[in-house]
Amino acid sequence: MHFIGKKADIVKAGRVTQRVNGCRDVLVLYHQGQLYALDMLCYHTGGPLQNGDIEEFSGQLCIVCPWHKYKITLAEGEGLYQAVDDPTVRPLRTHWRSKGVKQRIHKVTEVSGDVYVTLNDSSEAIESDVYQTEKHRTVSINV
Ligand code: FES
Repeated sequence: MHFIGKKADIVKAGRVTQRVNGCRDVLVLYHQGQLYALDMLCYHTGGPLQNGDIEEFSGQLCIVCPWHKYKITLAEGEGLYQAVDDPTVRPLRTHWRSKGVKQRIHKVTEVSGDVYVTLNDSSEAIESDVYQTEKHRTVSINV
């Protein structure tokens, strides 16, 4: 477990970013009484999720990437997209659907007012992994 900070400070800030274990940039955020942790850079092209808005789609809380507005569920890291039932029928009927897990979500633990993150080290590749490299960090910071 990696210490992130005091819960009271995270609640006050709303969101904090931190490099965990020297290898992974993680965004920890507090929203509606819950703490979440996920890879900081968006799975699409590495956008800064720490600057994204939180909105609800189909009852699922999502962070909306500020670069191209991709929606990522906070609970599972799923990418959501709006599907159309039948493009020939007007008005269009749309539904939010999942593209599957795209953003790596990490475990948050609170102990006596201290907040810790445990990296999700599942060996299954997740698209946001691509941006956890020095090359992409530099690109994102300089954009
Ligand atoms: Fe996040 Fe494109 S980089 S939506």
